[in-house]
Amino acid sequence: MDEIYLNGKFVKKSDAQISIMDRGFLFGDGVYELIPVYNKKIFLLYKHLERLKNSLNLIGMKFIDGLEDTIEKLISINNKKNYFIYLHVTRGQQQQRNHVYPKSIAPTVLIMCEEYPSYNQEQITAGFSACVQEDFRWLKSNIKSISLLGNVLLKNLAHTNGYYETLLMRNNKLTEGSASNVFIVKDSKIYTPRLSNELLPGVTRDLLIDLLKDHHMKVIESDITHQDLLDSDEVWCSSSTNAVVPIVRVGDSVIGSGKTGDVSLLAHKITKEFIRDY
Ligand code: PDD
Repeated sequence: MDEIYLNGKFVKKSDAQISIMDRGFLFGDGVYELIPVYNKKIFLLYKHLERLKNSLNLIGMKFIDGLEDTIEKLISINNKKNYFIYLHVTRGQQQQRNHVYPKSIAPTVLIMCEEYPSYNQEQITAGFSACVQEDFRWLKSNIKSISLLGNVLLKNLAHTNGYYETLLMRNNKLTEGSASNVFIVKDSKIYTPRLSNELLPGVTRDLLIDLLKDHHMKVIESDITHQDLLDSDEVWCSSSTNAVVPIVRVGDSVIGSGKTGDVSLLAHKITKEFIRDY
């Protein structure tokens, strides 16, 4: 896990260096992906590369060739079975700090392996809590941008107050979590905010919609108000780090029975099975 890829070379993480003039460092000018590796196999790589392509396109950058081979090589170098590939592309470095970027500039490409804790069945069954905040981030949250200050502040608001996640509302509409997408269940129907510029098109969100459909459960993509959220029977957050994280308390409100509900447990189970068989 020591070895990383930076701009064409495999080097030790502790030896890797980038210029202080890198636009990623100075402006947060770049995009990223976080991709799970399960049992040494990269998970839904094509979906992540498709989203990366879209993010790059939306910030006026070209796709980077050969990423798949580089990732495979890094996986073969590293001995671990389960972890995450962090793929980070910035617009590159320039001579002087300038908001305006030059037309031809070589991107900075970093690929490294990271580990994040996963939750056990006991924790999933007990459920987690979340708080709610106005979504004060920018209006291009569909881009997986490395400029994550808004998300960082919102995640830390949750963390310092003992919550797992901050759920975000914009104009009384749920958008997503600070680092996750959100699903709710009401009267056995599953809802998730529809895709727009206000939220990230999560790879796990997409997968869950498909898997639940295969299990004859339709996910309705719609507007969800603050009251809908509080009145729901179940809530869960989805992300590549922890596919389904049930939320049983939102602020002071208990969700449903206060324990992880059946639909959340099913969603968790079918994703786990899908990952096992992938
Ligand atoms: N973040 N929304 C936001 C704002 C996110 O940061 C993430 C994931 C998601 C879920 O997307 P996906 O299912 O493709 O992981 C939604 C990753 C895990 C991160 O930044 O570490």
